[in-house]
Amino acid sequence: MAANIVIGTQWGDEGKGKAIDLLASRADVVIRAQGGNNAGHTVVADGETYKLHLIPSGILHKDTLCLIGAGVVIDPKDLIGEIEALSERGLSFEHLRIDPRAHITMPWHIALDGLSEKFRGNKDIGTTHRGIGPAYMDKYERSGIRFYDLTHPEIFREKAKTAGELKNAIITKVFGGEALDLDAIIEEYTEYGRKLAPYIGDVSVLTYEAVKAKKDILFEGAQATLLDIDFGTYPYVTSSHPLSAGVCIGSGVGPMVIDNIYGVAKAYTTRVGKGPFPTELEDETGDYIRNKGGEFGTITGRPRRTGWFDSVIVRHAVRVNGLSVLMINKLDTLAGLDKLKVCTAYKKPDGTVIKDFPPVLEELEGCEPVYEEFEGFTEDISSCRRFEELPEVCRKYISRLEELCECKVGMIGVGPGREQIIERS
Ligand code: GDP
Ligand code: IMO
Ligand code: MG
Repeated sequence: MAANIVIGTQWGDEGKGKAIDLLASRADVVIRAQGGNNAGHTVVADGETYKLHLIPSGILHKDTLCLIGAGVVIDPKDLIGEIEALSERGLSFEHLRIDPRAHITMPWHIALDGLSEKFRGNKDIGTTHRGIGPAYMDKYERSGIRFYDLTHPEIFREKAKTAGELKNAIITKVFGGEALDLDAIIEEYTEYGRKLAPYIGDVSVLTYEAVKAKKDILFEGAQATLLDIDFGTYPYVTSSHPLSAGVCIGSGVGPMVIDNIYGVAKAYTTRVGKGPFPTELEDETGDYIRNKGGEFGTITGRPRRTGWFDSVIVRHAVRVNGLSVLMINKLDTLAGLDKLKVCTAYKKPDGTVIKDFPPVLEELEGCEPVYEEFEGFTEDISSCRRFEELPEVCRKYISRLEELCECKVGMIGVGPGREQIIERS
């Protein structure tokens, strides 16, 4: 039995879906613990591509119990859409359970996400416009609507009316927007609640039972370390805790149940949305990586910003998550570049060199990456399955990342497919 966590170490989209799919094939239970449908996890299995938002990737393995924990924010419309689309592709939802404590993303959250972003003008965060921030705001303000409420029509009507009236006042009087039709929303969402009611289940209890029964458990991370509300590049972050510690709070089990924490990184760096990015490449090399790596957002289709691997960031992720092991994905994407660079430290405007990721943007500003250069490689490595099969320059690159990040690299991704992974003992 083992309880494993998979976490993103950069700004998201590191290929967590692929890592999760591999580990889920060995798990009895897969749990999403925070975030919402701002996540987009791609799994390429047997030639089929799945893009999962709220549904745990364990759904692709038919006997796996799939849990959505209390820390997740749920857009019921999107969730039902996902269930229906995946059901049409032959997947079963018999083993899906959703915690009654999970908060619901309502249409006013989505409206307010858009209006706040517009209000910020060119200081916008670049959110996914999925209402994530406003839904978490209500949760912490203690006025949110939870999954339990959604599945109980009388309670839901009452809470949605109270919340909706206040939100309409904010939408119209503060932002000058258009009021939402609350009766129509209540009717529509009551129907969603009816459809989703069979999935209700106490995820904390179910997870603990699995721990006691010595089952294999996988906590599926969404978003990533630098999107964490405290340890990310605030305010250009999401509104939850995508760190390893967030998993326990979001599912309702204690930290002592965890055995391994896998951190997923790309062999380079990407970011979608706004905010600082020290190793960003706004040149032909950046375009090459974007096009070769298909770096366009899973959710919004936005082009992802691209740059060199930044070991200052991944070392930060190793520390704040307590990582046991790293997975480096998309090494294959770097083939064809003359030279590769890795950021080893930052040089501050006063010339001081720092190795720890600055805690606030004001200190990050003006930091220049200090690079180490590597020879490039041209070989197609997508069919390599053992570390020894990789070209020498790739092996050197990976070994140096291990040293710089102070964490061993246990898995290397050489293509999007389920089988395109090099596992090292
Ligand atoms: P996630 O949000 O961390 O699950 O990552 P996304 O699914 O948003 O983005 C990762 C993208 O990279 C997806 O299109 C994956 O199919 C793809 N991918 C994952 N690992 C590899 C890899 O090792 N090589 C290549 N070429 N593509 C990969
Ligand atoms: P996965 O799980 C990449 C980013 C958004 C934006 C910021 C805030 O696929 O790695 P939000 O809608 O959460 O309020 O947006 O966070 N963001 C992600 N970027 N991958 C994700 O998830 C993300 N989830 C949120 O682009 O910059
Ligand atoms: Mg993604």
